[in-house]
Amino acid sequence: MSELDPIVVSLADRSYEIRVGAGSLGKLGEHLAPLLKSRKIAVITDPIVDGLYGEKVRSSLTSAGFSHTRVVVPSGEEHKSLTQLERVHEALAAARIERKSALVAVGGGVIGDLTGFAAATFLRGIDVVQVPTTLLAQVDSSIGGKTGVNLKSGKNLVGAFHQPRFVLADVETLASLPPRELRAGMAEVVKYAVILSPDLFALLEKNADALNAHDRTVLADVVHRCAALKAQVVMEDEKESDRRAILNFGHTLGHAIEAVTEYRRFLHGEAVSIGMVFASRVSRLRSGFAPESEKRVARLLERFGLPVGIPAELDSGELARAVETDKKRDESRVKFVEVEELGRTRFELLSTTEIEEALRSD
Ligand code: NAD
Ligand code: GLY
Repeated sequence: MSELDPIVVSLADRSYEIRVGAGSLGKLGEHLAPLLKSRKIAVITDPIVDGLYGEKVRSSLTSAGFSHTRVVVPSGEEHKSLTQLERVHEALAAARIERKSALVAVGGGVIGDLTGFAAATFLRGIDVVQVPTTLLAQVDSSIGGKTGVNLKSGKNLVGAFHQPRFVLADVETLASLPPRELRAGMAEVVKYAVILSPDLFALLEKNADALNAHDRTVLADVVHRCAALKAQVVMEDEKESDRRAILNFGHTLGHAIEAVTEYRRFLHGEAVSIGMVFASRVSRLRSGFAPESEKRVARLLERFGLPVGIPAELDSGELARAVETDKKRDESRVKFVEVEELGRTRFELLSTTEIEEALRSD
């Protein structure tokens, strides 16, 4: 197997294809040749990904006739910053990247978000291609056009919607991912299943062992399904005026846990895993989510080695206050995503007092 059916994200003149496959990275140049307006492009990556896949990317682009500049941004969330954005912009200017040129982001969500924002802002906007190499980036961040960088005051506070021109996800790159990063990405996979697809949920239950063992056929199928689900949500609500906010399932408490533990203790997906178990409990208490379904969600997350309980030492009041400062608030209430049954969600506006009460309940 090399590539599965293309997924088309239909957004008028911002439409694009997502290609998911196993071993398809070497075809990058071939895919881009008919799509891009200029043969002069820039690849933005990080040192780890560059060391693993840089050569393959370079030779594929060169064979397809592209000349490219490479900009290597240090790995890590702290480098999704205005400082690195300026470095990238200066490198693009020095390489005389033009309006018709494109940036190619090869890496995880940090590289994808930074590069997407660099493309949105350089010369008032040039094309970006996303080549995600983490599970989280393949199923989530490379799709949908949210780009940006962090400020000292908070994550993703500066950004823009800038849809990619093309997305190429090669699941073979996941073989080199640290196991903890793969598990964290699995949390977002489970999220899609809970909020959008009982079929995917059943498939994950059946294939959890194969996924944990990096079975590339199952991984490609799962990444493909998740990418298609995300694409559908993005097509329904590109700028998150309403529907797209369902993707925040588990993220309200997840973000709060990340914030109170100062982004050190948990990877994003791990915090979201705990957040989804909490959101499932709130859903049982307020939206009739069946107790058996609630248990299935926690069991599935545990099979992927993800944490499911709020650490006892985290104070409910402090967590509720952190929820309050999260940016997805509507006036005094938080737009909380609840699940009525697997695949069906609703929003409920909750006060921080109600969240604090839920944190203290069973
Ligand atoms: P990441 O980009 O920091 O990558 C994690 C680590 O894995 C890094 O050290 C990286 O060098 C390494 N790595 C990447 N690919 C590898 C590979 N194939 N083999 C070995 N190592 C590899 O983390 P992430 O989880 O991919 O992304 C997190 C970022 O994504 C956050 O900044 C978050 O805000 C953002 N995000 C954005 C969206 C969006 O819609 N734009 C959605 C979700 C998350
Ligand atoms: N990660 C959520 C979104 O793209 O909307």
